[in-house]
Amino acid sequence: MAETTKTATLTIDGQSFELPIHSPTAGPDVLDIRKLYAQAGVFTYDPGFTSTASCDSTITFIDGGKGELLHRGYPIDQLAEKSHYLEVCYLMLYGELPTATELEKFESTITNHTMIHEQMHNFFRGFRRDAHPMATMVGVVGAMSAFYHDSTDIADPIQREIASHRLIAKMPTIAAMAYKYSVGQPFVYPRNDLDYAANFIHMCFAVPAEEYVVDPIMARAMDRIFTLHADHEQNASTSTVRLASSSGANPFACIAAGIACLWGPSHGGANQACLEMLKEIGSPENIPEYIARAKDKDDPFRLMGFGHRVYKNFDPRATVMKQSADEVLDLLGVENNPILATAKALEAAALADPYFADKKLFPNVDFYSGIILEAMGFPTSMFTPIFALSRTVGWISQWKEQLSDPAHKIGRPRQLYLGETERDYTDIETR
Ligand code: CMC
Repeated sequence: MAETTKTATLTIDGQSFELPIHSPTAGPDVLDIRKLYAQAGVFTYDPGFTSTASCDSTITFIDGGKGELLHRGYPIDQLAEKSHYLEVCYLMLYGELPTATELEKFESTITNHTMIHEQMHNFFRGFRRDAHPMATMVGVVGAMSAFYHDSTDIADPIQREIASHRLIAKMPTIAAMAYKYSVGQPFVYPRNDLDYAANFIHMCFAVPAEEYVVDPIMARAMDRIFTLHADHEQNASTSTVRLASSSGANPFACIAAGIACLWGPSHGGANQACLEMLKEIGSPENIPEYIARAKDKDDPFRLMGFGHRVYKNFDPRATVMKQSADEVLDLLGVENNPILATAKALEAAALADPYFADKKLFPNVDFYSGIILEAMGFPTSMFTPIFALSRTVGWISQWKEQLSDPAHKIGRPRQLYLGETERDYTDIETR
C-alpha cells in the first residue's frame, strides 16, 4: 500500500470526516474513501471512473499531460525501439527485464505452448464463416476453461503461472485460426522455429499448397505493434478483466470478458473503425466535411483514432506508430498510399482546428496502426483481434497482480438510484 501522508476533511451537514490521502510513486494523490459509506452513510458518484482509482498497481504508469507511458518504469518508445514483445511480456509478468538465461527459458516456455488442444478445432467449426473474428475469439478463449482444467485453480500460484503462459502462447494461434476460418482456408499449425511475431504472420498467411517465407520487415513491424499495445493500466477491458476476476472466475473466462469489452469502437474496435473512416473520407479534399461532422453535436460521428480519456497531450504510442507506418510502407515498397496521405492530412487539419486543440484531442494508438496492418495484408476485421492478442499480456499481468494481493475483494459498485420508490403491485385489469 502507498504511503499515507495527508488527510482530507469532508464536511456533510456540519459533521466532519477525515479521509486518508495516499501518495503514489508517480501521478496524482489518491483520496481513500473505502470507509466513507460506513462512517458517513454516503456513496461517491463517478459513472465513467473519471476520478476513480480502482486498485493499486505497479505495472503501468501513464502521465496523460506529458504524453508518457511507462511499463515497470521503462518508457514505451525505448521498449518499442530496443526491446521486443516477449521480453516486454516477461517484464510485465515478473516486474524486471530478464537476464539472457531467463529470457531464453521464457521464450522456450511460450513457444512450447503455442498449439491448442486438437479438439478445439471442432469448436471453431461450429461458428458461421462470416462471424467477426472477435466474436469467434470471445467464444474460443472462454472455451479454453473447458480444455485446460489443470490451470483454472486461481488459488494455486503455479496454475496461475501456467494459465498466463498458455494465454500468451495460444492467443496468436486462436486469432490466426479465427482469421483462417473466416476466409475458408485450412488452419496452419504454429511453428516453433519462428519467433512470436513471425509465427503469427505465418499462421495467418501461409497455405499448405506452397512455401511461405515470412518477411523479416513484416515480423519486426508486427512485433512492434504487439509491444505498443501490451498494456495500458486500468482501461475499460483491463478493468473488465479485474472485475470478472474479483468474483473468483477462472482466467480464461476473465480474458474472454476482456476481449468482449475491447471489441467496442470506443476502445480496441477503433482501429477497424478508423481505417474504415479513412477509406470513406477517400481523399484529402473531403476532410473539411468530416471535420465539420465531428464537431457537430447533432451528428454522432467522431473522428475515430482521435481523443483519449487519459492522454491530454499526445499518445506516445501514436508517435511510434506513425513512424512505423512510414517505415513499413516504404520498406514494403508501397508508394503514395492514399490512405496514409488522407490520415496525415486529417491529422494536420484536426490539430490546426481550435475544436480539437481546445478539447485536447490528439491521434491515439489506433490512428495509424490500421494503415500498417492493411499494408501487411490483414483485412480490417483482424485489426481488433491483433489488439486483443497483444493486450493479453497486460490483462493477464493485471489479473495475476490482483490475485496475488491477499486483500483483494469482489468488485461491487453501488449506484445513484433514480427509479420509483416502493409501490404496490396492480392487477393487469386495473392498469
Ligand atoms: N471526435 C470528435 N469529438 C470528440 C472525439 C472525437 N474522436 N473524442 C472526444 N470528443 C469530444 C466529445 O464530443 C466531448 O465534447 P464536449 O465536451 O463538447 O461534449 C469531448 O471531446 C470529451 O469527450 P468524451 O467522450 O467526454 O471523452 P472520454 O474521455 O469519455 O472519451 C474516447 C474518450 C477515446 C472514448 C473518445 O475520445 C472517442 O470516442 N474517441 C474515438 C474512438 C477512439 O479512437 N477510441 C480509441 C481510444 S485509444 C485505444 C483504446 O483505448 O482502445
